[in-house]
Amino acid sequence: MSNRLNTTPNDLRAFWMPFTANRQFKQEPRLFVGAKDMHYTTHDGRQVLDATAGLWCVNAGHCRPKITEAIREQAGELDYAPAFQLGHPKAFELANRLVDIAPEGMNHVLYTNSGSESVETALKVALAYHRVKGNGSRFRLIGRERGYHGVNFGGISVGGIVSNRKMFGTLLTGVDHLPHTHCRARTPSPRVSRSMAAILPRSWNALSRCTTPRPSPPSSSSPLPVRPACSSRRRAICRSCARSAPSTASC
Ligand SMILES: Cc1ncc(COP(=O)(O)O)c(C=O)c1O
Repeated sequence: MSNRLNTTPNDLRAFWMPFTANRQFKQEPRLFVGAKDMHYTTHDGRQVLDATAGLWCVNAGHCRPKITEAIREQAGELDYAPAFQLGHPKAFELANRLVDIAPEGMNHVLYTNSGSESVETALKVALAYHRVKGNGSRFRLIGRERGYHGVNFGGISVGGIVSNRKMFGTLLTGVDHLPHTHCRARTPSPRVSRSMAAILPRSWNALSRCTTPRPSPPSSSSPLPVRPACSSRRRAICRSCARSAPSTASC
């Protein structure tokens, strides 16, 4: 009997799970066995609210009869046709339906298979756009600290999560990052708002090095909108963020 046939069906080792502490998960697996609408079902029959719609990809709800029936019907009629030099009629139909609901001026659809692939494609489209317009020197890409743009080389280069890129060498060149504006307390105190105001002109300078024509910088004295007063706990969080943050990011 071959090794393949000897494989234990419920052995968890072969699947290398992304963004997961694998050893810990496999010691105490958290597996779902079913789903309906906005709940998952665990192996012991508990219902768990799916508050993130899968990973934001089951937004209409799980196992909706209309959707499962449409998938079943299409798979039985024409499951796939290549898009290189050939075509699937439904790909054109969907493109038209998307254009119909897209904002004015968005007239074409380029399909991708994931967010990461979409980001890589968007970066390429942006570079190619400027090149065909005769602006080949506009090749710099600006991301934000803490930004997440998927897991491929372009995405981790423009993304601002250092732990996602530190193992992978030089990545894309010509990338700059603006400071993030995230505040853990979400409603920054006036003091934090002021320190964010101080970093904005610096962000603007970074941006203006990379674009033509140069944008005019906002004044650092121009007040940010005043937020409603926040709780004393939130104020304490904001203050500690402001103290411990590196020079650019204040919170
Ligand atoms: C802004 C952004 N870019 C890229 C991605 C990556 O998408 P995927 O996990 O489908 O590759 C995500 C996913 O959350 C995202 O939010």
